[in-house]
Amino acid sequence: MSTRGSAMAKHDFTNRVALVTGAAGGIGRATALELARAGAKVAVADIDLEHAKNTVSLIEQAGGTALAIRVDVADPLSVAAMVAKTVDTWGRLDFAHNNAGVLGGSRPIVEMPDEVWLRGIAVMLTGVFYCMKHEIPAMIRGGGGAIVNTSSGAGMIGVPNQADYVAAKHGVIGLTKSAALENIGHNVRINSICPGTARSRMVDNWLQGSEDAERQVASLHPIGRIAEPEEIARVVCWLLSDDASFVVGATIAADGGYTVP
Ligand SMILES: NC(=O)c1ccc[n+]([C@@H]2O[C@H](COP(=O)([O-])OP(=O)(O)OC[C@H]3O[C@@H](n4cnc5c(N)ncnc54)[C@H](O)[C@@H]3O)[C@@H](O)[C@H]2O)c1
Repeated sequence: MSTRGSAMAKHDFTNRVALVTGAAGGIGRATALELARAGAKVAVADIDLEHAKNTVSLIEQAGGTALAIRVDVADPLSVAAMVAKTVDTWGRLDFAHNNAGVLGGSRPIVEMPDEVWLRGIAVMLTGVFYCMKHEIPAMIRGGGGAIVNTSSGAGMIGVPNQADYVAAKHGVIGLTKSAALENIGHNVRINSICPGTARSRMVDNWLQGSEDAERQVASLHPIGRIAEPEEIARVVCWLLSDDASFVVGATIAADGGYTVP
């Protein structure tokens, strides 16, 4: 039996409330669907409201409960409103997957416009900071919770022509460790996940439909292929669940061996 695509829910998240950023597609959508399948009510947050609504429709068609929220994670007021809307709607917040991201500048540092650098850091690093700043108090008010921040294989190693992306994703790992130490005493567990290449709109834009390019990228992963987003989502849900109750401040690679050699 294939273990790549969606399978039956492995956790019971009934009466739990979850928030996923970057949930309009890819890894975030897969996490939102998996959380909902396990019984959680899910706030599907993204700057792309139209596709976030599509994620909500998929959840509802499968019998789950979800709410689409437009957010720009680089805007602190927008992030505060996202968390407030989630808590106002369902009364609590148990889980968060801070996952919104953008394709890096894809050019050498000396050619990278300042605004490209600043936007990458704003969305993928400062955005995670803003999200946790508002999520953690909401979780503490409810007795605790769990957070997973999306880093990347590029958070563990250097990649040429991706300095903005690599710096942001390395930053997410450090930010996660500090946040984990600050909050485990409040019963909020915080970890980061480092996916290898997984099928998503971001990766589709990067590969531009080229099978050759996909084969080349797949060959960088010792497993010999890229991931389905559900394979990342299931690790996120495990990290959020009580099955990972002793996992604190960890950096979990789900990358087909990409960062092993
Ligand atoms: N797919 C991969 O190969 C891969 C590998 C490692 C890490 N990641 C990370 O996983 C996360 C999800 O990416 P994905 O591959 O599923 O791509 P994706 O493009 O499907 O998802 C990213 C989502 O973030 C949203 N977003 C962008 N800027 C935003 C903002 N300012 N505020 C709110 N939402 C915003 C986009 O609209 C999009 O829906 C990203 O953080 C990415 O860096 C992806």
